[in-house]
Amino acid sequence: MKKVYNIAVDGPAGAGKSTIARSVAEKLNFVYVDTGAMYRAMALHFLRNGIPADDEAAISRLTGEVDVTISYENGMQQVILNGENVSGLIRSSEVSAMASAASVYMPVREKLVELQKNLALKENVIMDGRDIGTCVLPDADLKIYLTASSRVRAQRRYEELTAKGEDWNLEDIEKDIIERDNRDMNRENSPLKQAEDAILLDSSSMTIPEVVDRILELFHEKKMEGGSLWK
Ligand code: DC
Repeated sequence: MKKVYNIAVDGPAGAGKSTIARSVAEKLNFVYVDTGAMYRAMALHFLRNGIPADDEAAISRLTGEVDVTISYENGMQQVILNGENVSGLIRSSEVSAMASAASVYMPVREKLVELQKNLALKENVIMDGRDIGTCVLPDADLKIYLTASSRVRAQRRYEELTAKGEDWNLEDIEKDIIERDNRDMNRENSPLKQAEDAILLDSSSMTIPEVVDRILELFHEKKMEGGSLWK
């Protein structure tokens, strides 16, 4: 059977994971899987149903009924919630907060982790999230833990939002980021942490192309180490 390559990228919100993973995927001709978008689609479903983030029983019940899948349009991942393409509806701060809150519950995680594992069995993928190296793809060929200081991450988000004409305060964005980090890192189930065999990259003072090049370099090094198994 032909070898399938898996690259795992984990890290806190705003570290640049999706931009970087998408670019690496393009260069290697891999499929890019954004797992956060799946948690966001679930979160949208809970919000639409008026479920409070702390209602574990209702969230667990709705998780059983909901169908989340992904597809690709011109190479861009689309997330499909019960047959509806919700990709354009999942980037609000309300959805971010609900995704972070609802992702603490095991039924939500189990459902999405299974989908993610299956995707990586068949194709060369680069997958980003919080638990990819530790839980979804423990045998990934390369694991990256991508981070940056909370101030740098907030500044990047601030620039993104102001470019879209939105009026935000940098301190509020940083506060949101720190809150989300705390929840993602301190939850009981699959908290965000660096896998033992992951390589730490701090993007605070690196440009996106520099990080992308470093990951490509690391991947090629790993490939060389893999020898004949990797052909
Ligand atoms: O990567 P993102 O910001 O789109 O993710 C939104 C939330 O989803 C994040 O705060 C935590 C959760 N998440 C998770 O628990 N595990 C993942 N693999 C990806 C995201």
